[in-house]
Amino acid sequence: MGFFVYCNVRFLVSMLLCFCWWNLPVFSQSSNADWWKSTTVYQIYPRSFYDSDGDGTGDLNGIIQKLDHIKDLGIETIWISPFFLSPQRDFGYDISDYRSIAPEYGDMETCLKLIEEIHARDMKIVFDLVMNHTSDEHAWFKESSFNRENEKADWYVWKDGRGKNGQKPPNNWKATIGGSGWHWHEGRKQFYWASFLDFQPDLNYSNPEVKSAMLDVARHWLSKGVDGFRLDIFNSIYEDASFRNNPASLRIVPSEESPDGFFQQMKYNVNQEGSFRFATELRAVVDSFQNPARFMVGEVFGDVETTKKFCSYNGKDGLHTIFLFKTLSTPFKAKKWRKMVEEFEHNFAEPFVPTYVFSNHDRRRSITPLDNDVRRAKLLAFFQFTVRGIPFTYYGEELGIEKPLLPLKTGLDPLAQRYKSIPQFMVNLTGQSLNRDECRTPMLWDSTQNAGFTSGKPWLPISQNFRNKNVQTQERDSVSLLNFYTRIINFRNENPILQDGTLAIAKELCNRKVFAFYRELNEAKVLVLLNFSGQEINSEGFSSELIFSTHSTNNINTLLPFEGRILKLQ
Ligand code: NOJ
Repeated sequence: MGFFVYCNVRFLVSMLLCFCWWNLPVFSQSSNADWWKSTTVYQIYPRSFYDSDGDGTGDLNGIIQKLDHIKDLGIETIWISPFFLSPQRDFGYDISDYRSIAPEYGDMETCLKLIEEIHARDMKIVFDLVMNHTSDEHAWFKESSFNRENEKADWYVWKDGRGKNGQKPPNNWKATIGGSGWHWHEGRKQFYWASFLDFQPDLNYSNPEVKSAMLDVARHWLSKGVDGFRLDIFNSIYEDASFRNNPASLRIVPSEESPDGFFQQMKYNVNQEGSFRFATELRAVVDSFQNPARFMVGEVFGDVETTKKFCSYNGKDGLHTIFLFKTLSTPFKAKKWRKMVEEFEHNFAEPFVPTYVFSNHDRRRSITPLDNDVRRAKLLAFFQFTVRGIPFTYYGEELGIEKPLLPLKTGLDPLAQRYKSIPQFMVNLTGQSLNRDECRTPMLWDSTQNAGFTSGKPWLPISQNFRNKNVQTQERDSVSLLNFYTRIINFRNENPILQDGTLAIAKELCNRKVFAFYRELNEAKVLVLLNFSGQEINSEGFSSELIFSTHSTNNINTLLPFEGRILKLQ
């Protein structure tokens, strides 16, 4: 019986998509080489997606078993966080062998099968490439740290200390997460530099051998058919060649737009010219693989003028796109979002393609700042799939998974462990999460024990309200968030205007409650309206043929609370 209900809802959704909505040519205008410009991306945190062998953590086989969920959503590209050999102290972002698969996730055969299965569904696969640092258990670091004379002696960023006994760090540089980023190594009687955590030593890219070894890693996976890379903390690749001290700053906490913090300007350890140049060198390698063309998105932090230097403006000299994190600090209000979109449209006008970030494995769940309100979560998704740019969806956002409150003290996340002396009430007061476990809880598949994620003991707790937030339950509910995601993503897929059209703010229609913009492609033009308020709004002044609504409504004259709608203008 349940199965039939499920089939019927999915059937109805597809019928609606086929017949009720506006029919423009089905194929996107982007050429094959530009597939990434019009794609949609789903991020999988492999540890939390689906556990196929009952050990409590997700695995590659589990991903293969659940690929149809992503395909059914209408998503075209999958980015998977790292699953390579690793001591897992930072859950895979500390790699000890770039060409091997961590046994808890699977083996090479399963990895190749995963690539194949994704391609068989006409989707793309993007790996997570951590080029900046390795694990301190990587054979390269073991050799490099053995003494000062070995073949890999210069593969990491080693420096003598200052002071009488050389026990003071070489300069004042702070790690991204605070505290000196220099760590004493007893074997070499020297310091090594780590931009992030102490067990993640930075590779030394001024050594050509290192660069060439890491470019080979990229080639290795590209030749296995991987369609591109998400590049981890790519703005930390190079350091200042003469290791000058960073100037002082009044800033305490770094933000998305400025890595400055802990009372210093991160002038000489991030966003160096060498890193911008390296983006272009990497691009050349990636572009040497064609049919299909490949893609790169960079995780970089800094002001727009600086971070834009990582991007390609001529289609060949840098990364395809970079994450724009300002979304995370912008309150979900009509005026604020208008301002943010205006800024991004100005700074990342064609040929750039903006990539707004709504959540990921480091931040939060996107429904958290929306007071866990599903109506607003639908509006957010509506924005994400109608605005110009590449939409990235973190696993579970389609269900509205909520962030639990997990104490710092018992956190598995190494950042939680690092900050565990901060009293919990202070953390709660800030409303910020210092424990990344909170946004990494398991995917919710059904109403059975452990939400169908594992038959074993889940590595992180299952969301308390999993019984009504899981995939199976939401598939059966025609107005669920999940069915909304399916509807809006498929609508976007079928309407090239939303993928490739230009965007112009509809200034005359924007106000405190409403944000509106036009999308235009060739002869076609649509108006996208978003009601950020909980009130009905008279929309007689801007009525036209309604071709999509977050709600089920035919009332052209009233914009419902938190409604998003698309009107066909020509
Ligand atoms: C950024 C990644 O997103 C995060 O999860 C990781 O801990 C650090 N980089 C270090 O690789």
